[in-house]
Amino acid sequence: MTAPLDPNLAETGLRHVRKALPHDSAEKHVSGKAIYIDDIVEPVGTLHVVPGWARKAVRGKLVRLDLDKVRQAPGVVAVLTADDIPGTNDCSSAFGDDPVLAKNEILFYGQVAFAVVAETRDAARRAALLADIEVEPITPIITAEDAVAADITVLPDYQFRRGSPETGMTAAEKTLSGVMHIGGQEHFYLEGQVAMAIPQEDGGMFVHSSTQHPTEIQHTVAKVLGVPDAAVTAEVRRMGGGFGGKESQANQWAALAALAADRTGRACKMRLDRDDDMIMTGKRHDFRVEWQIGHDGEGRIRAVDLNFLARCGYSADLSLGVNDRTMFHADSSYFYPDAVIRSRRLRTDTCSNTAFRGFGGPQGMLAAERMIDAIAITLGKDPLEIRKLNFYDGERNLTPYGMPVEEYQVMHDLIAELEESAGYWARREKVKAFNAENAILKKGLALTPVKFGISFTLKHLNQAGALVHLYTDGSVHLNHGGTEMGQGLYQKVAQVVAEEFGVSMDKVVITATNTSKVPNTAPTAASSGTDLNAMAAKKAAGEIKQRLIAFLSEQHQCSADVIYFGDNKVLVGEKSYSLAEVAKQAHVARIQLSHAGFYATPMITWERESATGRPFFYFAYGGACAEVTIDTMTGEMTVDRVDLLHDVGHSLNPAIDMGQIEGGFIQGMGWLTTEELVWDEEGRLRTHAPSTYKIPTASDVPEDFRVKLYESKGNPQDSIYRSKAVGEPPVMLANSVFCAINDAVASLKPGVVPDLDAPATPEAIMKAVRGMRERQAAE
Ligand code: MTE
Ligand code: MOS
Repeated sequence: MTAPLDPNLAETGLRHVRKALPHDSAEKHVSGKAIYIDDIVEPVGTLHVVPGWARKAVRGKLVRLDLDKVRQAPGVVAVLTADDIPGTNDCSSAFGDDPVLAKNEILFYGQVAFAVVAETRDAARRAALLADIEVEPITPIITAEDAVAADITVLPDYQFRRGSPETGMTAAEKTLSGVMHIGGQEHFYLEGQVAMAIPQEDGGMFVHSSTQHPTEIQHTVAKVLGVPDAAVTAEVRRMGGGFGGKESQANQWAALAALAADRTGRACKMRLDRDDDMIMTGKRHDFRVEWQIGHDGEGRIRAVDLNFLARCGYSADLSLGVNDRTMFHADSSYFYPDAVIRSRRLRTDTCSNTAFRGFGGPQGMLAAERMIDAIAITLGKDPLEIRKLNFYDGERNLTPYGMPVEEYQVMHDLIAELEESAGYWARREKVKAFNAENAILKKGLALTPVKFGISFTLKHLNQAGALVHLYTDGSVHLNHGGTEMGQGLYQKVAQVVAEEFGVSMDKVVITATNTSKVPNTAPTAASSGTDLNAMAAKKAAGEIKQRLIAFLSEQHQCSADVIYFGDNKVLVGEKSYSLAEVAKQAHVARIQLSHAGFYATPMITWERESATGRPFFYFAYGGACAEVTIDTMTGEMTVDRVDLLHDVGHSLNPAIDMGQIEGGFIQGMGWLTTEELVWDEEGRLRTHAPSTYKIPTASDVPEDFRVKLYESKGNPQDSIYRSKAVGEPPVMLANSVFCAINDAVASLKPGVVPDLDAPATPEAIMKAVRGMRERQAAE
């Protein structure tokens, strides 16, 4: 029986899901009461670990590592090198190519060569500077172009090919080509990398780590210490942001803290200094994209040839999945009849690039938007017209990797609605008028789509577990494999469990993610945290509820249909009990009130080898319209207005989803406009602090910012309460800002495609403007 008790929710009968509840820790976040790793009360005698590195070296042979002075420094308890590792000197996720501590050679600027363990962090930091290190330099390979010339990769090349792009290109009425550089991005999580390891009996280790992937922390620590996985427990209650930067990149610091704890027998904590964090950890991949496109003369795409050259850094890390996702999103929302999408995973002597919100997808989509803009500009048509002309539709709906775009209608409806609500065409006229009247300031407008594939493209990661206990006082203990990094996952899963038991949210106690409660978990990534873990938790709670229903129907000799859980009560026909009463009775009757739920995403059949099958459970859609003004004398840019419309299916929590959409967009805008990573010619990262690396702040939010959830009919796939994942897709809404800047520059010389690279910093805008002026002058 599901008769709703609250008439307001009569339609769905739902009480907790689809409600705009605040983040469970919102108050603690803003009042400083939320406990991050560095806030956990330290065990007596805790030591502090600091990384030591060759501060000048980029790439070379490690000829001398003299640490005597470090050892003699005040407060130092131990100094660790690769030789102190009892197990394997590796903290990679898969490929065995990430040394925890350098051995014999330095592979990139910032590689950790030794670790200092001292009574205080200050003592350890001072001591680390006393090392005498000599590195015999080897000319480093820094840029993608260097790596192409040297033909050196971290992973084999890969490609998708459909039809014959060669024939398609020849048959096309018009062909265009170009090269675009797309910059990387520093995660700049507010809580930097940090771990605290506490030695246990018999060689065991308990590790608190700020990680998106506790299972990998467990495996890494076990591997480095040479103990079984079962001897290590990793736990994380929350991160102060992860954004992909703590999917694999938290491993090294947890491993070093654990190594120090193992060697000293004391609790050891490692918290990276911000500069060290920025220098040592991997970032979003930057790309050189070589593109060629053929169309029919009206702007309808005939063939595409894309070559993605990614700077991966010194090791593979997550570059396989990241670059695959770039390829999966190189179509943006457009049908490519004949296409080849190539990907090279270049090895450079720089930090190892890694996951970053969107996981390579944003770079792929931006390349597609560049090609569309080029078609529109050269034809003298509006880019939005060309976008819509090439949208997937009922007939042309197969992606280059063979998955059909089933919800193409959502894409069409959403963009049509945004076009209307943003007043696109009227504003296009205004922008034209403004540009005709102003010689220096130029406006640009763009409306771009988002289509983002949801699921891990590595099939086996699409699984999750949850552990739910019902206690005899009616309270519920909730644990699952997902991690909380600010995105609101814990709250969403708790809403689902409260719904299942029909109890208020305060009865559901959210607990820290812990590898000894739910084992063998996937990272919280690919935006699928809620999809996976909420399903597993629903199953766990549902199983306990079924046991209670069976128990009650036998006890009361009634049909299960008259038993109802809701409003903190259990109704059995006319009788009403509290959940506590029922739980107590069931316990006395020796019924198990605990269950481990498990979920594996259905329908995913992708086989990478043959590049066939279905990689994604579904797509999330969105649209963004941005208007900007640039100053052609200074390169300054302001974002005047942004309209976002985003599809989250039936939202599990509209408040949290709105936060994700706004935050994701702003983070994407930072990537494409102000965040610039600069390596000098010798390969040293020069932008390793907020003084030189500009992330967006509250004041960078567009003055006129209109954000709306698309009124969805629900996810057509059987996802958790028909919702859609929201973590990453909104980042790509920011492509609209980049395209609007490009549009403003393009207004300087009709028919000419600006040479604008990402990020569109004032310098990049000035460079593009100068290119246009030179073309003007040449005529
Ligand atoms: N939101 C906040 N506040 N902090 C974060 O670190 N990470 C993003 C996104 N939103 C992140 C965030 C990334 S990279 C991913 S993959 C998803 O959240 C992961 O969480 P989910 O799967 O639960 O959406
Ligand atoms: Mo998100 S980049 O998948 O951690």
